[in-house]
Amino acid sequence: MQVDGWFDELKRYVRFGPADEAALRGLAPLLEAEFVPIADTFYDRILEHEGARQALAHGESTVGRLKKTLYDWMSRLLSGPWDDAYFHLRCRIGRVHVRIALPEHYMFGAMNVLRTEFAHRISAIYADDEPQKAAALLAVNRILDIEQAIMLHTYREDMEAQQARAERLSTFGQLVGSIGHELRNPLGVMESSLYILKSRVGNDERIKKHADRIGEQIAVANNIISALLDMIRDKPLLREPVQLERILQDVLSTLKITPDVRVSIDIGDQAASLHGDPTQLGQALRNLVENALHAVGPAGFIAITTNRLGDLIEIAIADSGPGVDPVIQKRLFEPLISAKPGGIGLGLSLVRRIIERHGGTVSYAPDPQREQGARFVIRLPILDPVKKASAHA
Ligand code: HEM
Repeated sequence: MQVDGWFDELKRYVRFGPADEAALRGLAPLLEAEFVPIADTFYDRILEHEGARQALAHGESTVGRLKKTLYDWMSRLLSGPWDDAYFHLRCRIGRVHVRIALPEHYMFGAMNVLRTEFAHRISAIYADDEPQKAAALLAVNRILDIEQAIMLHTYREDMEAQQARAERLSTFGQLVGSIGHELRNPLGVMESSLYILKSRVGNDERIKKHADRIGEQIAVANNIISALLDMIRDKPLLREPVQLERILQDVLSTLKITPDVRVSIDIGDQAASLHGDPTQLGQALRNLVENALHAVGPAGFIAITTNRLGDLIEIAIADSGPGVDPVIQKRLFEPLISAKPGGIGLGLSLVRRIIERHGGTVSYAPDPQREQGARFVIRLPILDPVKKASAHA
């Protein structure tokens, strides 16, 4: 969106001018003593509403800090200057709310609370001065409308960025498709050459071992390509009994794990009843374990556990790394959003896609008992959804 001149144009549109600036500046010292109770009412209202409260990353403990930021926000609202720096500061504040995925309608609600709180107090402060009261109310309404427009502007900016990402992703999908196809040929050549070489290896065990390794890795590469192509094509999933432990052992055997990283797998019998596509589930688990290894660094632990929750199997992958920055937690599974420096942001969206195609969910759910560390939780239905659907039919 074109923003040059946008702010000035908006001020002109609502006729926010020198008289309003003077009214706000006159009001500022008279209202300052009320900023604390206004902030109290503002956050009490947030806490009363579950949908708004959820946006508080660390629950009510965040509120104290936010009250101070709202206090500063009110000071600047009434004292200005309402210049370009003001506009950019307000855009930055708006983007903070977009980043924490605060639903847009709460912005309207919250602005209404502020407007109402200001109006009561202005009426009391200027009880004996009608013209001053009218001027102050008009100025406050104008500046709050401008604030609201800026907040909406940041949500729109975000929507446009998401659209651009979706377009990039569709191009990316096509690219992945063609690269996948192109890689099949060289892999095929490697496979047949390896076949010929293997017949000439003789009795040298070391060469045999390495030839086998090459063969295994060609198979891994082929499976990854198939998984990517399946994702793009939405090919129906295989539905077969899945041996989770075996999949995990296969995944771990192909990853480089340094000696000081402990990986524990604790899988109960319940996981035996899982159905799904072993290759794709393997791909999803591989991505999560790979991310955990990356986060843990040279030393630490990764714990993989399963749990039965009614009709669901829960698979949790926890690590001792630093955890995911709260700012991107809510968008972690979106394509092209990455928590890793240099990451392209496809790994977790692929995980989500695979798990959702299995009728399950995946979420980021850090362990509340631990101060740090990431934890991803996959929930998969035990009964094969295909069978479930026919059972209901
Ligand atoms: C008129 C409406 C609102 C105003 C003027 C406002 C103002 C602010 C300001 C000034 C900040 C500090 C930004 C920064 O510099 O980092 C902030 C952050 C924040 N606001 Fe609001 N806010 C509004 C509505 C809401 C609502 C409805 C919620 C609901 C929960 C909310 C939740 C938060 C949270 C969680 C942060 C901190 C994000 C972070 O640092 O991770 N805000 N807000």
